[in-house]
Amino acid sequence: MTRILSVTSECVPLVKTGGLADVAGALPGALAPLGHEMRTLLPGYPSVMKALKKPKVVVEDDDLFGGPARVLSTKLGGLALFILDAPHLFDRAGTPYLDINGSDFPDNPERFAALSWVAMQIARDGADGWMPELVHAHDWQAGFAPYYLKTNGVDVPSVLTIHNIAFHGLAPGDRLTSLRLDPADFGEQGFEYWGQIGALKAGLQFATALTTVSPTYARELTTPEFGMGLDGVLRTRAADLTGILNGIDLEVWDPKTDPAIVTYKTARGKGRAKARLRKEFGLPDADGPLAIVVSRLSHQKGLDLLLEALPAFVDRGGQLALLGSGDKAMEAAFVKAAAQHANVAVRIGYDEALSHRMMAGADAILVPSRFEPCGLTQLYGLRYGTIPLVAATGGLADTVIHASPMAMRSGVATGIQVSPLTAHALASALMQLIDMFKDVDAWAMLQSNAMRQSVGWEASAAEYAALYDRLTDSA
Ligand code: ADP
Ligand code: GLC
Repeated sequence: MTRILSVTSECVPLVKTGGLADVAGALPGALAPLGHEMRTLLPGYPSVMKALKKPKVVVEDDDLFGGPARVLSTKLGGLALFILDAPHLFDRAGTPYLDINGSDFPDNPERFAALSWVAMQIARDGADGWMPELVHAHDWQAGFAPYYLKTNGVDVPSVLTIHNIAFHGLAPGDRLTSLRLDPADFGEQGFEYWGQIGALKAGLQFATALTTVSPTYARELTTPEFGMGLDGVLRTRAADLTGILNGIDLEVWDPKTDPAIVTYKTARGKGRAKARLRKEFGLPDADGPLAIVVSRLSHQKGLDLLLEALPAFVDRGGQLALLGSGDKAMEAAFVKAAAQHANVAVRIGYDEALSHRMMAGADAILVPSRFEPCGLTQLYGLRYGTIPLVAATGGLADTVIHASPMAMRSGVATGIQVSPLTAHALASALMQLIDMFKDVDAWAMLQSNAMRQSVGWEASAAEYAALYDRLTDSA
């Protein structure tokens, strides 16, 4: 049995802005049957503090990056948690990263450096009578953890998982002291990034092993196109970088028991869920496929290309229901598209329950991302017989089997991949979707293939376990 400390800035069911929260929330449960004990260190944002029941104070610190802090130990929703209660850093309105006006908190580097520092303290001194044998850090927010382990002589191996290389966690070069960093490491071989301090770069340089959330993204990361300035570092560490696919929670996303749905075992059961979904979105009845998008609205997700391809799709009888929020210009553009086309409906916001009803009632889910480390919504789609139409990148390429003529003839296809990703290619793929939807037998085959695909955590948890074993020599 290995004891692992997972260090993350978000975790389901307590706080979520994206897929990282789902992964951090699912890993401990997926690892437990394999004999690994994972505890999770998470900042005490107001919503987290409110949810805690009878926490125990296990560490106290008078001066954690400018104020007093405590680590609380508690159990919640099957998770063993260490909560970093540091009001001067985390007791704020807004999201974990942004203030109420949508701007980054200026002290984000210090806030999450503090989280990483506490991870190091727990690895060094233990907490609640528990000593981790390995630290698993997620994204830039935990990027300094492997560095602090090294500089404080804590001989515990570390894994850094890259969920999204677009976020580097940069700070001005004059913050070395406030971030508790050694000036000697402020160079290309250390955490320096073009004159700035990079939290993610620190993790990439100092973690014992690196992972990302799909094998294709692991390869892509070492290229200038996808590495976003860190591809050079990743090339030097290529031997230590592996891609392990995310899974989804098969109980939360279960078409047979999902309370949001009229129960269905096969695609035929979609009829009623689809009728209800059309009604909910105010879409007319139609013979064409009902496609959905459930997404952050950001450049990454490529939805501006969907806006361009949309007229051709709806002209041919397709329908779109979108749920999302983020970039204000994109929100406005989709609201406008909905006003222009009767077959387009849009909800701006974040709504977990609605996302279930959409997955249940739709024929297809669109994920035309420019890059996608793994992606979860295409996996929900597969499980619900909601055919994914995806860009051939990252985890999307690894989880969807393209309906090429050969894959259709061999009966293995599960969706459609678009490559290269342009508005024109996306429009063609949407035409293919419409044509395949008309072919009742072909569509039924796609759906049953999709629903049979294994999208849970089992295989990936075993890969993480093998990695932990290798790093702690406890195989
Ligand atoms: P990312 O982490 O890049 O946003 P993922 O596909 O890995 O992409 O994870 C996104 C998660 O957030 C999924 O669980 C998805 O269902 C959920 N999600 C995104 N936007 C919304 C929304 N507007 N309402 C409900 N759930 C959403
Ligand atoms: C990131 C990526 C997404 C991935 C998620 C969880 O937010 O954008 O592709 O699924 O992390 O690993």
